Amino acid sequence: TWVVDSGEESEEQILDLQEAGMWIRDGKLVAFPTETVYGLGANAFSEEAVQRIFEAKGRPSDNPLIVHISDEEQLDGLVTEVSNKAKALMEAFWPGALTLIFNAKPVVAKNVTAGLNTVGVRIPSHPVARQLLREGQLPVAAPSANRSGRPSPTTAAHVLLDLDGRIDGIVDGGETGIGLESTVLSVVHDPPILYRPGGVTVEQIEAIIGAIKVDPSLQQSVAQPLSPGMKYAHYAPKATVVLVEHREELERAVVEAKNHGKKVGVFATVSKSVSYADEVIVANGLEEVAHMLYGTLREFDKRNVSTVFIESVPKEGLGLAIMNRLEKAAGSKK
Ligand code: TXA
Ligand code: MG
Repeated sequence: TWVVDSGEESEEQILDLQEAGMWIRDGKLVAFPTETVYGLGANAFSEEAVQRIFEAKGRPSDNPLIVHISDEEQLDGLVTEVSNKAKALMEAFWPGALTLIFNAKPVVAKNVTAGLNTVGVRIPSHPVARQLLREGQLPVAAPSANRSGRPSPTTAAHVLLDLDGRIDGIVDGGETGIGLESTVLSVVHDPPILYRPGGVTVEQIEAIIGAIKVDPSLQQSVAQPLSPGMKYAHYAPKATVVLVEHREELERAVVEAKNHGKKVGVFATVSKSVSYADEVIVANGLEEVAHMLYGTLREFDKRNVSTVFIESVPKEGLGLAIMNRLEKAAGSKK
């Protein structure tokens, strides 16, 4: 796997991004940074190139991919209709961490949409992503650049750890910003339906277009999710993840796990009361929790922690996306 450093503005970087764009046009797989997480990109018009994404990730074939574009003009080539609410959201949040689900035109490779009639599209705001998309001159299908089921990658090193030798190249743009994936919202429905909470919050969306619906499966684990990807185990490190609702429970839970011979890690928002754990990682506020979450899960694995306790956060603002990922990470015990 070829690694390109895009860390500094230089002649060389521009050449490298030109080359990476050419690779996409050639049907190769190139991982790249976005403002949310690293994506694994391929030509969204090539069924063959997209097939390689599913193979590299070990991704179930019924889970559709998000198409990334550099400019709004490319949208017309991909989707049949853009509602007024969709236009208002694009105006407010593109480029950015909002994926909109539209009715798809048939040019989109079938495996991108996993056979659905709809396609998810976003314009990322990360300058490296946008430059790469411009160089590629094509819509780019890109899931998160992790092996299926693992925490999404927020650095190029995470991508290499999961996919070295399975993909053609990585553009290294350093750490990603938000650290959680984009919000996925269906604008095929009116009111629109939230499929996956993410970097753009429900509150921000409702401030622009009024009330939206939330896929019931996001609140109760019984219902069949509307977005195929939401039914799979996800974001899981090797360690067992346990969500702790009240801080008072944390000490007891940690002590008990240690008594059972576990190496215990804690990811919390205040360090003071958790000094009794073996490994403690602390974040300051919701944005930092989001930014650090996936890297922290991977870091605990590196430190051979066997049980990770994580403090719950209120399901408001970014907290909704954080809790969605944490519940999935905790749900898939291995
Ligand atoms: O921030 C992000 O969204 C990152 C970066 C790379 O852009 N990408 C990402 O892709 O998280 P992925 O494949 O890991 O997650 C895409 C989610 C899945 O849950 C998938 O089921 C859903 O979007 N999705 C994609 N197209 C869909 C469609 N047509 N209908 C319903 N859900 C869809
Ligand atoms: Mg993913």
